Amino acid sequence: MTTEPPRPPADTASIGIVGPGRLGSALAAALVAPGSAPVTVAGRSPAAAEALALRIAGVHAATPAEVIERCDLVFLAVPDGAVAGLAASLSWRAGQSAVHLSGALGLDALRDATEAGALAGCLHPLQSFPSGEPPAEAARRFAGITCGLEAPAPLDVTLEALATRLGVASVLRLERVDRALYHAAAVLSSNHVVALSVAATQAWALAGLDATAARPALAPLLRAAAEATASFPPAEALTGPLARGDHETIERHLHALDAVPELRELYRRLSRELLALDLGHAPEAAERLRAILDEPSAQKRL
Ligand SMILES: NC(=O)c1ccc[n+]([C@@H]2O[C@H](COP(=O)([O-])OP(=O)(O)OC[C@H]3O[C@@H](n4cnc5c(N)ncnc54)[C@H](OP(=O)(O)O)[C@@H]3O)[C@@H](O)[C@H]2O)c1
Repeated sequence: MTTEPPRPPADTASIGIVGPGRLGSALAAALVAPGSAPVTVAGRSPAAAEALALRIAGVHAATPAEVIERCDLVFLAVPDGAVAGLAASLSWRAGQSAVHLSGALGLDALRDATEAGALAGCLHPLQSFPSGEPPAEAARRFAGITCGLEAPAPLDVTLEALATRLGVASVLRLERVDRALYHAAAVLSSNHVVALSVAATQAWALAGLDATAARPALAPLLRAAAEATASFPPAEALTGPLARGDHETIERHLHALDAVPELRELYRRLSRELLALDLGHAPEAAERLRAILDEPSAQKRL
């Protein structure tokens, strides 16, 4: 009978990270609390891992092969499309754990690791780790968030303990979850907010205002709306002309946006989406808003 070697708990497992990018750097910085074991980090080329090791005490730079050789628990913090290829290129062994951080990928992306006897897992922080933020600051982004988790026992227990160590507030099991839809929800909540910020800046500049002033002026609105969605149901979180039923204001917006059909269509489509909420308007007022927002653009009318 073959028995698996005992798996060390999260705070004593030797941890490695391949991929010193946005999330890999933040994770490394978050895991090297004083008194904890060092974290070994590798990249495609040595430069990024070495730079991270210089910035964060407790991070050691190595090659991907050295990470696999030295570490019990290895995070593959590379772009989703590189996970399977990287997993296939490394020499895994029984008793080791390979963990990716992608919301969209299942554990099948780590098939080569499991075929070599390692356990496969996924730990997906529902958080945005932008580039350009110092890793020590990015490390704080784990606090209070939810992390998606998929892993067999006993790796699931190890990853839950690790999530707790990172300050994660809750863990969401992803077994039997449609990962593409789950990840699309995350992208709508995060990346597409950036698209809205870009669109808003475009309208701001068209109004004749200085585009560089747009972000500081508009970001508090964006932040307040995001915070309101966390505290109130959507219909209560919503403010502005749609919530009030100010159809003339909305008509003015649409008319002004006729100059940029893509922007107008984005505005119209998102507003139309909000009409699905119970905003408490009288039936005639709701019908009027619907008619305005179903109206084709000036270009289509021609
Ligand atoms: N950033 C986020 O907000 C976020 C949030 C949740 C989950 N995730 C997940 O985290 C993972 C990493 O995302 P990221 O945003 O951190 O990506 P990223 O900033 O682009 O970093 C990827 C890192 O992987 C390295 N790399 C690429 N191919 C490699 C290979 N074959 N071998 C070794 N290193 C390689 C890159 O090095 P080079 O510089 O040499 O290309 C870079 O250091 C993805 O699965 C993503 O879905 C990210």
